[in-house]
Amino acid sequence: MIVNKPPMGFNTWNTFGENINESVIKETADAMVDTGLLDAGYKYLVIDDCWSERERDSVTGKIIPDHIKFPNGMKSVSDYVHSKGLLFGMYSCAGTRTCADYPGSFDHEFLDAETFAEYGADFLKYDYCYRPAHHHGDLLYRRMGMALKACGRDILFSACNWGCDDVEKWIRSTGTHMYRSTGDINDSFPSMRDILFSQIDKLAYSAPGCFNDIDMLTIGMYGKGNVGSAGCNDTDYKTQFAVWCIYSAPLMLGGDIRTFSKETLALVTNKKLIRINQDEEARPAFITNSRIEKDCNGEMKYTVEKGGAKTFVKLLSDNEIAVLFANFDECERKAELYFEDAGIPFASGYGLVMENVFTGESLGVKKDYMSRSLAPHDCECYICKLAK
Ligand code: GAL
Repeated sequence: MIVNKPPMGFNTWNTFGENINESVIKETADAMVDTGLLDAGYKYLVIDDCWSERERDSVTGKIIPDHIKFPNGMKSVSDYVHSKGLLFGMYSCAGTRTCADYPGSFDHEFLDAETFAEYGADFLKYDYCYRPAHHHGDLLYRRMGMALKACGRDILFSACNWGCDDVEKWIRSTGTHMYRSTGDINDSFPSMRDILFSQIDKLAYSAPGCFNDIDMLTIGMYGKGNVGSAGCNDTDYKTQFAVWCIYSAPLMLGGDIRTFSKETLALVTNKKLIRINQDEEARPAFITNSRIEKDCNGEMKYTVEKGGAKTFVKLLSDNEIAVLFANFDECERKAELYFEDAGIPFASGYGLVMENVFTGESLGVKKDYMSRSLAPHDCECYICKLAK
């Protein structure tokens, strides 16, 4: 199968952790359709860790669904998800046990891939806990990659080794379609900020076929759920979504969709941001403002490494350009765009016509230099065209 755009969907882990069951999945499936998320492109509903019994079936060796959480088995859940027009995702692990201590797929890869195909799975998230030390990750992901190819069903392969072991250098060769290039997110602005700064020099590894996955979104969680921390506000979530979009990262929602507010839904279905995310060229964004900036105490500093205000530029297909001004600091900051740094020198006579993706407002032609003053954690994002 060819995965040429960042996958979009929902994953149970951030909100539900081990508290998953058939009703939660069915209600989430209903909500994905009723709220318009499916129409916006969110089509995978993925069940994360903790779905199975603690041990394999002693006769068949198969992993078996927890009979209390999923009394009708997994195929019936998958059928329900499919009946809503969604795709169905499962979870396993390259080690002997999953991270929450359920059976992992080590040495059972081909049997498990067949089992997931029997369930009607369309997606497999594949974790990295309890990996036997004598097996390198590339071999283990390759084994499941081969098993999925043999299983008779198109199953999107989503690796999750948290960015360890120089994964970006070998993961594409194993057949995965997305791979976690970071540790786990929690529902706080610093966690999101650390993740995005850790990826700046890894963005070029993300491309059609296999995308860097910077973890499930925490948008709409407000501190509730399974991944800890005090939560974020709407400004934080707005910037989180804009960053995931300009990074061409998979958009896997992790908040409880059943309780999403109108504002949360409007954010995650913003058509222009999704267009930036899904752009078929999936070019890496670059940061332009490696200039002198003032820190929060008003002191001049040459580039605030992890923080400050940053300006990202991403070339889109159809000669469009996305620009994101974002403030990662705790005080008001100015994000700057030196057009020269984006490849548009003043002498060219060209500038950018800029349309704000949140407000629809057009700024007309801007040239040479511009800046946006941003409240703490806020951002502005534009889709632009070159113009004289
Ligand atoms: C972690 C993974 C999380 C979640 C969890 C389940 O390793 O990064 O996204 O899947 O395991 O136990």
